[in-house]
Formats: sequence, structure tokens, C-alpha cells
Amino acid sequence: MSDTPSPPVMPDSTVTLRPVVKANLRALFTLDVTEDQQSYVAPNAWSIAEAAYSDGAWQRAIYADETPVGYSLVAIDEETPRYYLWRFMIDHRYQRNGFARAAMELVIDHVRSLPGATEFFLSYVPGDHSPKGFYERVGFADTGQVMGIERVMRLELA
Ligand SMILES: CC(C)(COP(=O)(O)OP(=O)(O)OC[C@H]1O[C@@H](n2cnc3c(N)ncnc32)[C@H](O)[C@@H]1OP(=O)(O)O)[C@@H](O)C(=O)NCCC(=O)NCCS
Repeated sequence: MSDTPSPPVMPDSTVTLRPVVKANLRALFTLDVTEDQQSYVAPNAWSIAEAAYSDGAWQRAIYADETPVGYSLVAIDEETPRYYLWRFMIDHRYQRNGFARAAMELVIDHVRSLPGATEFFLSYVPGDHSPKGFYERVGFADTGQVMGIERVMRLELA
């Protein structure tokens, strides 16, 4: 977890998704989750590097007003088609303000606009501090499918 000072944000801030660019790269690298959440998501630097070398990676910085507060990465396979939430996080300093819900609604809107998108998948690692409850609140449901140690969830986009 980083000790970077927290730029102030208000819970009623406007949440936007913005491209990952040179100007926000360092800020995104410093965003981190709580100690308890470390095993549920990769560090942003790792995700941004993977996205740079992957076909069909759609990554966005999550902003609350002008402050970067999180990161999202979607794996897009338009041919199959299959759309999969690969990484998603809100920095520990900014959690529980509704920013994840607002950002996820924007991510879902984007995926819904993609060719043949009828469903959106993700997987999570089960455990005490898992994000499962958050995903259920934004509409995902367990499919019963297991990928290694991860459980697959699905959102109907119709
Ligand atoms: C999961 C995460 C993105 C939620 O971020 P957040 O900003 O705290 O979420 P929000 O404030 O937008 O919460 C929206 C709703 O989900 C609920 N919620 C948030 N995290 C939750 C959790 N871990 N379990 C159950 N419910 C949760 C909130 O209580 C809120 O419910 P409400 O609308 O009924 O009041 C954040 O905790 C995180 O980054 N976790 C670590 C990384 C991670 O696990 N990513 C997923 C990898 S698969």
C-alpha cells in the first residue's frame, strides 16, 4: 500500500473514464488497494504493461473529478465475441464512495456498445476480502464455472 498523500475528493465527485497516457501513468502506478485486498488484483504497473502487449486490451484510468482514483482493464475479443473484465480497482484511499459503481456502469455502457455484446464476464478469487459482493451489487451473477482458483461471473447486457 502506498503512503502517497491523498488529493482530496468529494463523494459527490463526477466519475469519468479516461485514456491511460504519459501524463497520468505515474499517478496510476501509485494507486493501490488495502493490504487485505492485495491478493485479489495485480498492481496497476503490471496491468498497464500487460495491456500494452495484448491484442484487444481496453484500459482506462478512473477519475473522480480531476483525481485519478482507480483503473480498469477489459479484454475484448470482437470475433468470438467475448468481453471480459480483466482488472478493476479503486485505490484504498477512495473506496466506499460509490466510485467503483459509477466507473463500472461506464465500463458496462462501453462494452454494451461493442459488436455482438450480449454478455460480460469476469472472474474473482473467493475469500474474506473478495470483490464478489461488489460485483453482485452491479448486476453480475455467479455462473458456477471455475477457472483455476477463480470463479466466473456473468452480466446479461440485453
Ligand atoms: C471492489 C472495489 C473495486 C469496490 O470499490 P468501492 O469504491 O469501495 O465500491 P463502491 O463504493 O462503488 O461500492 C458500491 C457498492 O458495492 C458495495 N461493496 C463494495 N465493495 C464490496 C465488497 N468487497 N463486498 C461487498 N460489497 C461491496 C458497497 O457497499 C456499495 O453497496 P451499496 O451500493 O449497496 O451501498 C474495491 O474494494 C477494490 O478495488 N478492491 C480491490 C481490488 C479488487 O478486488 N478488484 C477486483 C479484482 S477481480
